[in-house]
Amino acid sequence: MKILLLGCQGQVGQELLTTLSAIGTVTAWGRHELDLAQLDAIGPKILAQPPDVIVNAAAYTAVDKAEQEPQLAYTINGEAPGKLAQAAAACGAILIHISTDYVFDGQQNQPYQPDSPTNPLGVYGQSKLAGELAVQAACDRHVILRTAWVYGAKGQGNFVKTMLRLGAERDTLKVVYDQVGCPTWSYDIAAAIAQLIPYLAPGTFGTYHFTNSGAVSWYDFAIAIFEEAAALGYPLTLKTVLPITTDQYPLPAKRPAYSVLGSEKLDALLNQTPPHWRVSLRKMLQEFVSSPPQG
Ligand SMILES: NC(=O)c1ccc[n+]([C@@H]2O[C@H](COP(=O)([O-])OP(=O)(O)OC[C@H]3O[C@@H](n4cnc5c(N)ncnc54)[C@H](OP(=O)(O)O)[C@@H]3O)[C@@H](O)[C@H]2O)c1
Repeated sequence: MKILLLGCQGQVGQELLTTLSAIGTVTAWGRHELDLAQLDAIGPKILAQPPDVIVNAAAYTAVDKAEQEPQLAYTINGEAPGKLAQAAAACGAILIHISTDYVFDGQQNQPYQPDSPTNPLGVYGQSKLAGELAVQAACDRHVILRTAWVYGAKGQGNFVKTMLRLGAERDTLKVVYDQVGCPTWSYDIAAAIAQLIPYLAPGTFGTYHFTNSGAVSWYDFAIAIFEEAAALGYPLTLKTVLPITTDQYPLPAKRPAYSVLGSEKLDALLNQTPPHWRVSLRKMLQEFVSSPPQG
């Protein structure tokens, strides 16, 4: 099976390179090989070496910056996935496209299902929703996999790495407690995608949710990060973590207050339940603490 991986240098993309290599021959492209902002280049570049499966882990992920540069966010997150879907349809490939909990407004108090009504609060979520619609319109053989609160040892910064850095610099931190979601380890997303591919057949295409199981506030997630990191001997200076409200920590983009995603549809297909977020956090921290990034 020939698999084309886009976004191979991102935190999910780097893990996908490992998990997809176990099930097929992977061509891995980053921005340098294919800039998704160059929309006209996408189709010809893919059709020059048509794959069996395209996995798109590339995205404009700067949630707050997107409020200042909506056009770029829409090009990469909204329009480029449509071009990928057209190319997939033209060569008979399956497209697996990663999306986000930020397509929801966070007003529910029970887990969002793949068919729950969408209503993004900011440019990033709106652009990702536009990408979902473009994929659905152009390629029947697609999977849209929504995930949430992603962290990993590889790739650029994320909440866990930020907490570790601040926890080793400061003695007090304030973290919001009124946003609840499912922290999800990038490796688990990549493993789920590699597991899913062999199941894909008529009747299984469509939208799925995948996150680690459980739900937690950013505040309680931070506490867990510090507890697990301390148990691994990570050098923390932190003494106190104070819970604050979202209003006390204003950011340019609004976030959903509750963005727990129900993964039952995918669980039923794969016949398994995702690992609990705290189990995966522990594994990520073991990896990170044992081999912190150089430089
Ligand atoms: N991070 C989260 O909390 C979160 C939550 C829910 C869903 N998601 C979704 O999960 C997926 C993977 O996210 P991630 O956390 O792995 O993001 P990430 O670490 O920011 O990686 C995104 C990758 O996309 C690449 N990219 C950006 N603009 C590009 C362009 N114009 N052309 C080609 N490549 C481009 C980036 O390349 P450079 O390295 O060159 O910038 C980067 O390698 C995305 O679809 C995201 O929307 C993420």
